Amino acid sequence: MHNKHYLTTMRHGWKKKIVFCGSLVIFLLIILHPDMNVRGNYEYIEKDVIVHNLHEETAANFTSSAVLNCDYRDVIFDDTTLSLSLADGDLIENHKIKEGGEYAPSDCKPKFSTAIIVPYRDIAEQLRGFLVYMHMFLHRQCIHYRIYVVEQMDSRPFNRAKLLNIGAVAAMKAGYPCLVLHDVDLLPLRPSNLYACTKSPRHMSSSINKFRFVIPYLNLFDGAVAIISKQFKAVNGMSNEFFGWAGEDDDLYARLEAEGLKPCRFEPSTSRYHKVTQESQFRRDRGQKSVKYSKDKISVDGLNTLKYTEVATVLHPLFTHIMVDL
Ligand code: BGC
Repeated sequence: MHNKHYLTTMRHGWKKKIVFCGSLVIFLLIILHPDMNVRGNYEYIEKDVIVHNLHEETAANFTSSAVLNCDYRDVIFDDTTLSLSLADGDLIENHKIKEGGEYAPSDCKPKFSTAIIVPYRDIAEQLRGFLVYMHMFLHRQCIHYRIYVVEQMDSRPFNRAKLLNIGAVAAMKAGYPCLVLHDVDLLPLRPSNLYACTKSPRHMSSSINKFRFVIPYLNLFDGAVAIISKQFKAVNGMSNEFFGWAGEDDDLYARLEAEGLKPCRFEPSTSRYHKVTQESQFRRDRGQKSVKYSKDKISVDGLNTLKYTEVATVLHPLFTHIMVDL
């Protein structure tokens, strides 16, 4: 009798353990599955209405001899995923790129001119891969663009935001109406992620391998963002005071909010990026966040207080290289 009771309790205990382990395995399979990102975990602009949300404008001095306007529906609905190995190869058709890394399609008239601004220091091999990959990626999008690489030459901690301000000033001077602020270690995987500005500032890299393709928090404005030049000016650009790692992107988000500009996104499967380095080398100067972001500082810290020394600006075949001391 005693034995029978003991055996039943044992069996019950095992059943519980099996059910628990089974549930745990199913739970882990669900949350670790890469396709989890396909579930929308934030609000986004549906593909069907993206065209109506784009800011159509080309650079003031840009002309195209093409007769027909480019059509962007094919780009938006392109379901290709590019191979990362493109970054290790050579650029095909680079003769079409003008010195300084400027390109425009010749068979149709583009509706967008975008300046891609890349803060940078030191790692030439990574920059090479980025440039080769980006030109191949962007050629599929029928836009007019130019890539600016802004290199910090001094040995102070890296200041991503200030370098972005410097690139933005150069791009705006050249008449670019749309800025894409872009990390060098981030590669966009989906050509459907159009490098043109939306009417609201856009967080483009909301689905990154580093975060297992799930956005870590909704106000994240890191990696790659697109913003109309006039909007960037309206918030006085970014703060110049963030030396070292982190916070400068959160500060830009706070500035946009203060100006009543609510950032938008495309769907997660369109916004997929591959981060080449797990921890950005350019943000490795860790430490305490020395600056608190504050809406009150917008008018006294930004484009209107930007001071730096331009060491040189060189037009390379694939990019405009602005070298600065901060
Ligand atoms: C930092 C941001 C950074 C984000 C993701 C936040 O804690 O403040 O600057 O982009 O983490 O790494």
